[in-house]
Amino acid sequence: VSLEVLPDAGALAVRAADWIARRIRARPDLSVLVATGNTPMPTYARLAELVAGGELDASRVTAVQLDEYLGLEPDDPRSLRAWMNRTFVRPLGITRVVPLDDPATFGAALARLGGLDLAILGLGPNGHLGFNEPPSPPDAPTRTLALTPESLQSNRAYWQGLAVPTHAITAGMDVILAARETLLLVGGAHKRDILRRALHGPETPDVPASFLRRTALTVLADREAAP
Ligand code: F6R
Repeated sequence: VSLEVLPDAGALAVRAADWIARRIRARPDLSVLVATGNTPMPTYARLAELVAGGELDASRVTAVQLDEYLGLEPDDPRSLRAWMNRTFVRPLGITRVVPLDDPATFGAALARLGGLDLAILGLGPNGHLGFNEPPSPPDAPTRTLALTPESLQSNRAYWQGLAVPTHAITAGMDVILAARETLLLVGGAHKRDILRRALHGPETPDVPASFLRRTALTVLADREAAP
């Protein structure tokens, strides 16, 4: 595990974008699992700046959707796919997207891609990855599930006034842990305890992120989140 602590969210975004840009330059057709949520947004904005400034060509990247709420109309503002498209796919000039609609189609598309090169992840306040809610063992497959009260609460921050959907589909732990590299972005004092458990506690389904230590993991954290 490589853990790097940055002074603040701005520095974390610059560092994370450089880290991701280096992977894309080394392998222009990189396949990337893309988290939404608040933490990676400044990183994606910084990547978009690199693309707009001609410093990075991401047009051959394949973006793979990590998770989605169930039961939304296609144009629902809460759609995580729409969030990914708005903040990552379109600003980076990406045209290849693997949507997460159902486990079988998703698995077949990943197999055609030859697996994931990189998973960009945030850390749930309860240790979830994507919507792999605790308890999730390392072989938990891509599946639909009910969100935990903790995730319903944390997701409320995204949709002021709108209800958080109660069910979701997530790429499985098996998909995430099979990525050739994983990048975990963590910011804020409210993540410090769960990051410490993920990195230093026992590997346990109760903290799904603890299994990331089995991967080629890079953690970029701001000072407030550093364990
Ligand atoms: C979002 C996702 C979630 C978030 C996690 C952290 O696609 O998969 O697992 O990464 O809940 O969210 P933030 O970054 O908002 O604290």
